[in-house]
Amino acid sequence: MTTANKRVAIITGGASGIGRETSLQFARKGDRVVVADFNEAGGQETVRLIHELGGEAVFIQVDVSNQQSVNALVQQAVDTYGRLDVMFNNAGIGGAGPVLEQNMDLYHKTIAVNQHGVAYGIMAAGRKMKELGIRGVIINTASVFGFLASPGTFAYHATKGAVIMMSKSAALELAPYGIRVVAVAPGAVDTPIIQGYKNAGMLDSMRAKVMGGELTKPETVAKSVYLVSLDEAEAITGSVVMVDQGYAS
Ligand code: NAI
Repeated sequence: MTTANKRVAIITGGASGIGRETSLQFARKGDRVVVADFNEAGGQETVRLIHELGGEAVFIQVDVSNQQSVNALVQQAVDTYGRLDVMFNNAGIGGAGPVLEQNMDLYHKTIAVNQHGVAYGIMAAGRKMKELGIRGVIINTASVFGFLASPGTFAYHATKGAVIMMSKSAALELAPYGIRVVAVAPGAVDTPIIQGYKNAGMLDSMRAKVMGGELTKPETVAKSVYLVSLDEAEAITGSVVMVDQGYAS
């Protein structure tokens, strides 16, 4: 395969957790990776780790809650590598807080990052893939919390439910162009985002729901995301792929 034909994947939230491990996984498999995140230091560290593996990657800073920033990310990725095959809309924040004591700044921020951020990513990548005639795949990180309620995470639930339905709706509209859209739903993954739940005793109850009793490793989620991205997964579109180690079973 020539360099120009090598797949290009944009991975948002690539500075940490699931996004970093997915960036490494795609790079290991020979894809060129655009590591995108608000956190520049973390994103550059992911790029360094990819270079250490002999892979190809660049960092582009993005605020996924800003549509212009997401549009610029997609354009810059295509300017850099000439194509776009995979868009992984994965950046997210915890957005904890019970409904009756909801901090409204956190509420709006959670919707802006987790919901609007994914919407902007679907729109920008979908338009670009269509324009370039690429039969690509857009993968969005939902959560088991997109359909299972838990106390204290009101706004987060709203956004993850939205990610699931946006994925289905976009899949329907993009199917005529050969573009797949898939939601992946992790359960309880050992990353910084859920460390905040420790105090609420929530982490222990989450761990108890994971088959085997240990939190899922972000690299395990990364491998499933990679599988979903392959052409062999062509029938997986408009789907919610559970990557939850049985959490929702
Ligand atoms: P993480 O905190 O390790 O990574 C999230 C990344 O998103 C960070 O690098 C952060 O800088 C970035 N980010 C946050 N706001 C941003 C913005 N406005 N623009 C650009 N980047 C931004 O957490 P983790 O666990 O890797 O989260 C990744 C995704 O997985 C999130 O969507 C999260 O909701 C989802 N998820 C995580 C689960 C878990 O148990 N860790 C379970 C289910 C879903």
